[in-house]
Amino acid sequence: MTGTGTGAVQAPPSRTVTGWSGDADYFSFPEHHEFRPEPVVDVLRGRRAGVIFRGMVARDVCAELAARFWDSPDRERRSTEAPSYHLGAYHYHKTTEHYLDESERGAAALDKVLDLPDDPLTTFYTGLAEELAPEGVDVRLARHHGRTASRGLLRSWHGDGRYALDPHEDRSQCTEPRQADFEIQRVVDHEVCALNICLEKGDGGRLLVWNIQPDDASKRRMGLHHTGSPYPTRTLDGIECRWIDVHPGDVYVFNGSHVHAVEPNSDPGTRRTTLAGIFGFIDDGTVVSWT
Ligand SMILES: [Fe+2]
Repeated sequence: MTGTGTGAVQAPPSRTVTGWSGDADYFSFPEHHEFRPEPVVDVLRGRRAGVIFRGMVARDVCAELAARFWDSPDRERRSTEAPSYHLGAYHYHKTTEHYLDESERGAAALDKVLDLPDDPLTTFYTGLAEELAPEGVDVRLARHHGRTASRGLLRSWHGDGRYALDPHEDRSQCTEPRQADFEIQRVVDHEVCALNICLEKGDGGRLLVWNIQPDDASKRRMGLHHTGSPYPTRTLDGIECRWIDVHPGDVYVFNGSHVHAVEPNSDPGTRRTTLAGIFGFIDDGTVVSWT
């Protein structure tokens, strides 16, 4: 849950978020120029904060996926909380049933967009499954009473404030009381990993990751213990932060328990579109993914 245990507990002023921070070895984002599942396993097992695979997806595949996303009649707009367009379901702040209903409803449209040879989601999860199979670990979609989670989420944030997507972490949302019956909640005893595949992006639009996994006391003080969002910027003052530039075709995975945010594109006329998912161990022999 808190990485390798090699970090130190921070004790900054009371209004700052407190929690676990990793050491320099842990808080790094090594870059590779082809996909290799081993460094993903390092993130899954809490040995490292993240990893980036530069140019893993061909530019023409990215352009095709983005074009299909924007052309899709099933693309939806989210106007509250985090302004965005999306295709595919997201579990945030929903009941298990609601999320699975939406996953089912969106599956055909998502499959249509992803219907390409070597679609990047299949490449990623198949590679991860092959890497973990010899260890007796099964990698599969999260499920509930015979129904399955969405296999991916296409999304374009368009918040135009200081951030396109406010500082948040992905772990708290996995304790949503309305999803208490859903197996994904067991991931909070392990690492919550975020997968993002950059399909299109203008200048700016970098990912910011702070070297802190907020503790429960901070979350409760701010009322974020079931949502993880948003962490006011002033509460992050003085905490180490990494800015990660990404380009179309880059695939990046990071420990979503760290507070992270998305910088707006410098040109508001450009789009930042990703194909995303969340995954993690729920027990020693099972990794599940959802959105
Ligand atoms: Fe996130």
